[in-house]
Amino acid sequence: MASYPPKLIDRLFVRRGDITLERVDAIVNAANPSLLGGGGVDGAIHRAAGPGLLDECRRIGGCNPGEARITGAYNLSARHIIHTPGPVYRGGSSGEREILRASYANSMTLVKEYSLRSVAFPAISTGVYGYPAADACEVAVRTVLDFMLDTGYLADVYFILYDSINYTIYNNFIESLR
Ligand code: APR
Repeated sequence: MASYPPKLIDRLFVRRGDITLERVDAIVNAANPSLLGGGGVDGAIHRAAGPGLLDECRRIGGCNPGEARITGAYNLSARHIIHTPGPVYRGGSSGEREILRASYANSMTLVKEYSLRSVAFPAISTGVYGYPAADACEVAVRTVLDFMLDTGYLADVYFILYDSINYTIYNNFIESLR
């Protein structure tokens, strides 16, 4: 497994709370492939952003799992929303890890393309989609660090956890990399 220079690990931040309140350049939505909203963080983001978001998402017309699309953020403090459907977890032998990795990598690609300096991620796929929290955390953190290592593009990356279990998992994993 790759080891990472402290200057990259220092760009990762773990916070507890509601991602819709984050004042960053982009927040990432754990969307569904229709992009038409849902429950969990998807529902919270659409409720907080307002109806303009749904109108823009309708015009995009959907997004495959692992891919990512960027929209405006409307009533949110953030400037953009990056929508990415993660994988539905079916036991771990159906390419779920690769799809989850792609969700984080393609979101970071949009961060770089739009020259964004900060981005906030929820724990994609660990709710309704059932991905085990510790495995998902390792995929999330390593994919973000690998992206910054490979591209040289650095941004402040916030992992916003809604529950204490995920919060503890992320803090412990990131500290284990130092
Ligand atoms: N801020 C941050 N994190 C949140 C918030 C919030 N406001 N609300 C929920 N979460 C957390 C959940 O606790 C979980 O850890 O986001 C993580 C992802 O859970 P889900 O929102 O259920 O997303 P996911 O598992 O990827 O399932 C996506 O659910 O809501 C539908 O339309 C969505 O079909 C899609 C599916």
